[in-house]
Amino acid sequence: MTAPLVARTRGELEKALTGVRAAGGRVALVPTMGALHDGHASLVRRARERMAADDAVVVSIFVNPLQFGPEEDLDRYPRTFDADLEVCAGEGADVVFAPGVEEVYPHGEPEVTVDPGPERRSLEGRTRPGHFRGVLTVVAKLFGMVRPDIAVFGEKDYEQLTKIRRMVADLSMAVEVVGAPTVREADGLALSSRNAYLDPEGRKHAVSLSRALQAGVAAAPRGPDAVVGAGWAELAAEPGVEPDYVVVATPDLTGTPEAGEARMLVAARVGATRLIDNTALVLGPSPEATAR
Ligand code: PAF
Repeated sequence: MTAPLVARTRGELEKALTGVRAAGGRVALVPTMGALHDGHASLVRRARERMAADDAVVVSIFVNPLQFGPEEDLDRYPRTFDADLEVCAGEGADVVFAPGVEEVYPHGEPEVTVDPGPERRSLEGRTRPGHFRGVLTVVAKLFGMVRPDIAVFGEKDYEQLTKIRRMVADLSMAVEVVGAPTVREADGLALSSRNAYLDPEGRKHAVSLSRALQAGVAAAPRGPDAVVGAGWAELAAEPGVEPDYVVVATPDLTGTPEAGEARMLVAARVGATRLIDNTALVLGPSPEATAR
């Protein structure tokens, strides 16, 4: 297990990648905000699998102030750099790019940012105004700084993944966006840095989000309304959990499907912590059910 090189500036990053670029090698980027857990480890693993031995895997660790709302506590966000380095080393990352705020935003808050589209049509954007503008802006900047061939993001933040795919398509960015499946605890809870905010009681209630998804999948043969109803009922029945949304959409989140492949997304407040989760599902009667 070799420790990855740590680059704090663009100059150090460029130096770390000189050999790979000179040899015509490829670069994979895994953008993160640190506090790495097994879900992040699986993203780094996915990046490593996609790269040849002489290519480079870069993990960026940057807690991006631009994507935090005034109500969201940027200072409270978990920071675990030494443990993060071990995760990166364990998964074969070559470089950890961990710039400071002044390196990423040398002129303070940027005047030119990436417009994520209408916020009223966004699930997370409605409750977190400015969030996706912050995410897309920093991801575009990281793409500019790292110049990766591929970038790996978790399906756990599914709306974020679809927005990044759309940005890459709409702005003709030369990066392949790779989505990686959500990693879950044994009881189904999706791994998330936010789980660290849950107290033991909240942790017990939080599993209701994945139960809501399972209920949705079971109801999928009866159509989208049944999925939403089943998911909502599961969340509403859980003490200490306040559902925010339960939605079924097309896989790219632009439409409302009646049948076929779809995505179910849920958000709920568990005590003071807001959690999100999602799953793929197929709406309408299953082939076996139709044949019967
Ligand atoms: O998913 C995250 O951790 C962040 O939103 C990202 C993509 C690293 C941008 O800051």
